[in-house]
Amino acid sequence: MQDIRRPEGMVRITTPELAEAFVEEQLAAIRAQVGDGKVLLALSGGVDSSVVAALLIKAIGQNLVCVHVNHGLLRKGEPEQVIEVFRNQMNANLVYVDATDRFLDKLAGVADPEQKRHIIGEEFIDVFAEEARKQEGISFLAQGTIWPDILESEAGIKAHHNAGGLPEDIASRFELVEPVRILFKDEVREVGRVLGLPSNMVDRQPFPGPGLGVRCPGAITRDRLEAVRESDAILREEFAKAGLEGKVWQYFTVVPDFKSTGVKDGKRTFDWPCIIRAINTTDVMEVTVEHLSAEMLDHLAQRITSEVPGINRVLFDYTPKPPATVEYE
Ligand code: XMP
Repeated sequence: MQDIRRPEGMVRITTPELAEAFVEEQLAAIRAQVGDGKVLLALSGGVDSSVVAALLIKAIGQNLVCVHVNHGLLRKGEPEQVIEVFRNQMNANLVYVDATDRFLDKLAGVADPEQKRHIIGEEFIDVFAEEARKQEGISFLAQGTIWPDILESEAGIKAHHNAGGLPEDIASRFELVEPVRILFKDEVREVGRVLGLPSNMVDRQPFPGPGLGVRCPGAITRDRLEAVRESDAILREEFAKAGLEGKVWQYFTVVPDFKSTGVKDGKRTFDWPCIIRAINTTDVMEVTVEHLSAEMLDHLAQRITSEVPGINRVLFDYTPKPPATVEYE
């Protein structure tokens, strides 16, 4: 493996003062690179792309065009938060594309996990490429590449796609702008904080690219996807109330594709179970289960079964990795 290092003398960004110095340096570097040019950014609302957006808005204002693609598999409230933070509060030039129907129509009846992932990835590139083609006079593409992406691609672990896997006719039009490429994740978060991004955006737990799609195992249906989204929102709300947000590495719900018998108001029900997963890890290769209190589990079971349509049973996943993976697909 090649010996690759961050720039000579670079200190780790561990304080707001160091983050502020980094921001000042990057604002100058972005302005020097881009000048009066326009920059395009796929803004998912994840930590890396949000920090890149906030930096570029500060550096070049309306010359940044952010595209937020809602693939219908985002968590409850996420697209709304992206619009609120970036368009309303930071006055960003934001194109919002609600591609929910397009994604869910393509995914209808597709049960194979790899095929689902493939469809979501391809469709995302298609939607973003369509938006990119509509934009006139843009010569730069910003990306939230971070230092571990560079290391992994150098080590041959993960292909780091230049220009995000865009088709060649579009990729070749752009010069890349990657202002956080020399940062580790915790440093990106520190920079996000001094840029004024909300803490639930900066400190948020990892969320897979295929989103809730991998938590709705088998062929996705709109009603079961809604059950995943609603139960996930309840889980996040209860974790926040209990002070577990930011302490537990990742937590979410899964609604599998089978039903079981239950009873509600004296009548038989036949509905899905909802599985709760809460895990901790340092390297994602091995994970341990976060043990929730009996009160918390009781409360979650009560809320989810009474508030989420289609759920009549709540289960807790007690399995570490290995042998289980974090996600179900
Ligand atoms: P697994 O299920 O492989 O998950 O144990 C390990 C971590 O990776 C996340 N994950 C993904 N992230 N695209 C992503 O961006 C994906 O397709 C994907 N699959 C899993 C998962 O949420 C966990 O944090």
